[in-house]
This record gives sequence, structure tokens and C-alpha cells, in this order.
Amino acid sequence: MDLKIVSSAEELQQAFGVRILVYIGEQACPWAEEFDGNDFAATQILGTVDGEPVATARIRWFQDFAKLERLSIRPEWRGGGNGHRLLQYLMEICRKKGFRRLYLHAQMRLASFYRGYGFEIVGQPFGFSDHDYLEMACNLAESEDRLTLEHGPMVLNRPEGAWESVGVLEASLDRMEVPLSA
Ligand SMILES: CC(C)(COP(=O)(O)OP(=O)(O)OC[C@H]1O[C@@H](n2cnc3c(N)ncnc32)[C@H](O)[C@@H]1OP(=O)(O)O)[C@@H](O)C(=O)NCCC(=O)NCCS
Repeated sequence: MDLKIVSSAEELQQAFGVRILVYIGEQACPWAEEFDGNDFAATQILGTVDGEPVATARIRWFQDFAKLERLSIRPEWRGGGNGHRLLQYLMEICRKKGFRRLYLHAQMRLASFYRGYGFEIVGQPFGFSDHDYLEMACNLAESEDRLTLEHGPMVLNRPEGAWESVGVLEASLDRMEVPLSA
């Protein structure tokens, strides 16, 4: 499965398609509760297999923690480790962004899955959209390669999640005969 941060309207449609199948289709979540007003405040993740959208999740960012939401794998692609891959990818993005605390709402049957990644129950069980949930949180070790101002403007300009590749704005420097700063 290839995982990436959504960077186009088509990819967003694909991510939403997975959520419609999984939450609205399988789990009978009403539309307005699934698309709860937070989708344009979130970093959206898409997983594909041979170009077919099969997985998604989103991350919302708070000052003291990142919140992992809407993890979903289409049923035909479950049970082979894609859930592990998706969660590891989300945690890696958070680590790279320098976050040290992660938080999520776990459907109860999945508590041991999240526990395996260091999440612990915080607060009391609660419910919404016809499911019982546990608040879970985990601490991340400080990441040596988290993004900082030391990376400089061009690395920080790169598309989210593609911080290791030369970005389109770096290529734009080729057009300058005289550097703007000169
Ligand atoms: C949760 C989900 C993303 C996991 O995807 P997956 O491809 O099945 O996951 P994996 O094959 O990588 O397995 C990951 C772990 O999930 C757990 N798991 C998956 N389905 C489970 C189920 N129905 N009940 C209990 N545990 C389950 C297992 O602990 C497994 O760990 P193991 O490898 O040690 O056995 C997927 O089942 C899904 O999309 N479910 C519907 C949406 C949902 O409920 N999302 C979670 C909201 S908190």
C-alpha cells in the first residue's frame, strides 16, 4: 500500500470515498456525523494499492497534541497489516512535525491494537454515533529529524509529507539569473 498526504481534489475525493464505504456504508454513520465540519482543518491521508484507493485517515493539530481520526481500510484490504502500516505512517508524520503527544478515540474492540503502539487509556469511556469509545493517548520520543527552522526555507516550502524530495519551488530558482536577495 502506498501512503501519502492528500494534495489534490481528486485524492480528497478518493479519501472521502473510502470513508463513505467504511463508516457510512458499513458502520451506518449518518453523513453529517461522518463529515463533521473538521475535514478542511485536517491533514488528510490516502492509501492506494495499484492506484485503487483503499485506506484513509486524518490528523488534526492542536498546540499540545495531534489527534488521529477516521482510520479506515476498505474491507477487502483488511487483515494483512494495512492497519498497522496506516497507523505507523500517521505516527511518523506526527513525529516529523515534532509532536510529542498523540491522542485518539478508539472503538473499544481496537484498544489492544493501539496499546501495541504505546497508547494508554485516558479519561472515561464515552459514546457517539452509536459506538463506544475510549480516549487513548501516547507520548512520542523527541525526534532527531523533526522539522525545525534549521531546515531552512526551501525544505519548509516542500509539500507536506514530501520533505525528503526537492520541491517545485526549489526548481523555480532555475528561472532566476540574479538571485532576488542580491
Ligand atoms: C481498524 C482497521 C483500520 C484495521 O485495519 P486492518 O487492515 O484490518 O489492520 P491489520 O491487518 O493491520 O491489523 C491491525 C490490528 O487490528 C486489530 N483488529 C483489526 N480488526 C479488528 C477487529 N474487528 N477486532 C479486534 N481487533 C481488530 C488487530 O489487533 C490487528 O492486530 P494484529 O496484527 O496483532 O492481529 C480496519 O479494520 C477498519 O478500517 N475498520 C473499520 C473502521 C474502524 O472501525 N476504524 C477504527 C476506528 S477507532
